Amino acid sequence: MAKITVIGSSSMDLVVTSSKRPKAGETVLGESFKTVPGGKGANQAVAAARLGAEVHMIGCIGDDHYGKEILANLQSNGVNTSYMKVVKGESGTAHIVLAEEDNSIIVVQGANARLTPSVIEKAEEVISQSQMVLIQQEIPKETVGFVGSVCKKHSVPLMLNPAPARKVKDELMEAASYITPNEHEASILFDGAEIEESLRNLPNKLFLTEGKKGVRYFDGNKMVVVPAYPVDIVDTTGAGDTFNAAFAVGVSEGMDLLNSLRFANRAASISVTAFGAQGGMPTRREVDTLMKRYSL
Ligand code: RIB
Repeated sequence: MAKITVIGSSSMDLVVTSSKRPKAGETVLGESFKTVPGGKGANQAVAAARLGAEVHMIGCIGDDHYGKEILANLQSNGVNTSYMKVVKGESGTAHIVLAEEDNSIIVVQGANARLTPSVIEKAEEVISQSQMVLIQQEIPKETVGFVGSVCKKHSVPLMLNPAPARKVKDELMEAASYITPNEHEASILFDGAEIEESLRNLPNKLFLTEGKKGVRYFDGNKMVVVPAYPVDIVDTTGAGDTFNAAFAVGVSEGMDLLNSLRFANRAASISVTAFGAQGGMPTRREVDTLMKRYSL
């Protein structure tokens, strides 16, 4: 069983569905409103747990109603929450509009902004025993940097999912073993450099996620594209989180990079077939069944 620690945000997603996305100054009538658990960190923790990993989540929730729901949801998905800290105030929220086959999101950090290096220090033991640490960027920048140094100290591989986009220090780029930006995040990380050049500079370390096209990386000799699987899309929210979690599970279980990425693409393709960031996240059995059926 892969031992994975996820460090990051946990939020409540407030989701409106609409046939049309409003422009600035415009009001449109939506179709539905739902609240569902989300936050990139919590999504990745839940996805990894459903795929069979032993998962610890390190994060902060508020002492409000959403905080209780977020915690209960992590626990009911089998995530170890001993390192989740309850802080005074509001939990994180994400305000999502689902329209025209895609989402737009405004995140209000709330308690996630209180995930400071001191919270990480208290969890150093569990980090040191992990086969992989998975982190994203909805938490303070200095905390992400600090996690890089803790992982380096204990020689624990770090997977950095640099979402949402934000420039990071060179030390963190060096400390990470795997970096998984989309095109927009990559252009911020590498100051607008040619993506092909960035991929060549970081063989087997930089993995560019390109949505429906799949994922691209340089294996030291050639560019490799691992195609995504076509499916009928219901909701793309959380697809990237599922991809990252599954990639981390695959690598931690000893799959080679190519097979880890196929496994991750397969899991992500299932995740978009249901509503909600976590609604479509597959179990291990679902992914394995499809991998066998298509012998991939
Ligand atoms: O990656 C998807 C997540 O991003 C959503 O669940 C939402 O919480 C936003 O933070």
